Amino acid sequence: MRIDIISAVPQVLTGPLEHSIVGRAREDELVTIEIHDLRDFTTDKHLKIDDYPYGGGAGMILSAQPLFDCLEQLHSERSYDEVIFVTPDGSLFDQESANALSVVKNIIIICGHYKGIDQRVRDFWVTKEISIGDYVLSGGELAAMIITDAITRLLPGAIGDAASALNDSFQQHVLDAPHYTRPASFRGLDVPKVLLSGDHKKIEQWRSDQALEKTSKRRPDLLSKAVR
Ligand code: 6GU
Repeated sequence: MRIDIISAVPQVLTGPLEHSIVGRAREDELVTIEIHDLRDFTTDKHLKIDDYPYGGGAGMILSAQPLFDCLEQLHSERSYDEVIFVTPDGSLFDQESANALSVVKNIIIICGHYKGIDQRVRDFWVTKEISIGDYVLSGGELAAMIITDAITRLLPGAIGDAASALNDSFQQHVLDAPHYTRPASFRGLDVPKVLLSGDHKKIEQWRSDQALEKTSKRRPDLLSKAVR
């Protein structure tokens, strides 16, 4: 899979994409992630990439020209399954969206300023508009990294234990059960006995009970979709 991310502040798109599961998936060539600096595509002699909004109002808007040129170049090199614009007015991203995107070949993610990008880019190029939640970020970069992470960890081979991505919170529409590791007693705090019992049926039942209890307390909205 290949993910091209277009950004006006590519410096932000580092850490999380270079370490841990995503970093390893890139090393193992399960995914190619290319970052494109919008400024490299401007034809403006002062390297400007944004401008004031027509009709007035606060904030700057990313101009059509550098985005069009960058998108044209990428499309001349390969075909894309989706061109995603990350924006607070997009459709809400969830595990199902991540699952669906993890099975395509090439995608582009466009990061905007918080005030947005010229609407003509959205009308002409964008196939999907995604928000990561009901709050406003200062730019789309963090959202792009979240989406990239959620997709990449689903790629076959990205996670050591193949079963583990499927058992995640949200894959079954229930939250995860508590986890413990050694020692069995730490500063007087004990691991639940059932986990030390070696009785896998009992352990499975306990985890399922815990997960359902946590879900009904914190996210009762998920329960109607839960796989039991
Ligand atoms: Cl995708 N972008 C920005 N700027 N803010 C957001 C968002 C995206 N999703 C939620 N808030």
